[in-house]
Amino acid sequence: MHAEHNELITRIGPGTECGALMRHYWQPAALVDEFDPRLDPRMATRPVKPVRLLGQDLVLFREAGGGWGLLDRHCAHRGADLAFGRLEPEGLRCPFHGWKFAADGTCLETPAEPIGSTLCQRVRQRAYPVLEQSGVLFAWLGPEGSAPPALPRFDCFAAPASHSFAFKGLWSCNWLQAFEVGIDPAHPSFLHRYLQDESFDDAYGRQFRAASAGEVGGERWPMTRVMREFYRPEIRFDHVADGLLRLTTLRPMTDELTHVRVTHAAFPATFVIPLSETITITQLHVPVDDTRTYWYSFFTSFGEPLDKEAMRAQRLACVTLPDYAPKQGRHNEWGFNPEEQSTRTYLGMGEDDINLHDQWAVESMGAIQDRTREHLGTTDKVIMANRRVLLKAIETVRAGGTPPMALTPDQAAALTGPDTIDCIAPAASWEAHWSTAASAKRAAAAWLRGALHEPRPHPERRREA
Ligand code: FES
Ligand SMILES: [Fe+2]
Repeated sequence: MHAEHNELITRIGPGTECGALMRHYWQPAALVDEFDPRLDPRMATRPVKPVRLLGQDLVLFREAGGGWGLLDRHCAHRGADLAFGRLEPEGLRCPFHGWKFAADGTCLETPAEPIGSTLCQRVRQRAYPVLEQSGVLFAWLGPEGSAPPALPRFDCFAAPASHSFAFKGLWSCNWLQAFEVGIDPAHPSFLHRYLQDESFDDAYGRQFRAASAGEVGGERWPMTRVMREFYRPEIRFDHVADGLLRLTTLRPMTDELTHVRVTHAAFPATFVIPLSETITITQLHVPVDDTRTYWYSFFTSFGEPLDKEAMRAQRLACVTLPDYAPKQGRHNEWGFNPEEQSTRTYLGMGEDDINLHDQWAVESMGAIQDRTREHLGTTDKVIMANRRVLLKAIETVRAGGTPPMALTPDQAAALTGPDTIDCIAPAASWEAHWSTAASAKRAAAAWLRGALHEPRPHPERRREA
């Protein structure tokens, strides 16, 4: 890749072309949890927090009535920091000279100005729409006055609170390399390889420890065993809608059996993968700025309600609040243990949190991966396809058009699913097998009854392999 292209597809600050593209989408700005006084006691008295998103500094607050406000962080008067503002029933007041701004950016008071001053009417603080969805506060940073798109009717947004859990974490790297690890179906056989398997008893909420659906000679196999023993996958992908790729990864096991893993990539930075037979992970990658990224994961259950307390506790053990910064990182070599690497895991960075493995992979590349020096292989075909879509989308926005997945309400309502599966299937009929299994999973979800089952095929639907 040329250096200019790498710059083009990674830089997302105000005024950049990729930044203009990313501002066509709702972007997660915070977890609703971040305003929970049990997790951050300061929120009991003052639910206000600074947020950095797409290289912009903002302040997010909850109004007395329960609504949300998101304003530029620096006061429109002389730039003091509104993250230290006084939260009042009608808005946020700057402590420097008392200017007060409503959640919509209206200037309500400039108390030091002479009586009768109309300065207030000529000043606005830039405000951004906020959408609360499935435990996450999404922000719209598009051009002032433009209309936000609709969120797709994906399962993660359709599931009720009982079957849905959201968490996030900070990675010190560019957003694109963070996303590219999730659309790389070859890496779990290596990066996440455990040299021994565990009993399924401790598998809850843990990636790859659960069983693949199906059996081999009457025996259930943990996903990690399949990944370990069958490490040379055949990867296919289909454009199932504009901006929605289905990844099908086949690992032939015997003449009769094939392991099938189906995941999706939704433009610009979301992947949807199975955690277990009944739980799916939808993960978004949100640029904080060019060199830091938050991943936001939505866990969606098609079976029992989620044990959210257990899932939250598992994950909170690995981060520090309020930033959700991982305890392990470059500063301590991601907890690398050469003894573990020689005896228990392929990587040597622990067995409990596979997220740390991905974190090492993406952070160790450097803040912005130098793609002029990489050598892509056959297993990188989805990464290549995604970069083509990304470059084309930047062109589209440059020409004043609408990029993929910037959806109208009708388009959004038609984008349901997407399905995920991790199963052992008959080699001769794996395609029918997985889609039947996926349909059965959806049929079993009480909250999904009556919903559409499949994304409507894109008019130019095509397969690439
Ligand atoms: S800088 Fe905010 S009121 Fe003066
Ligand atoms: Fe991974």
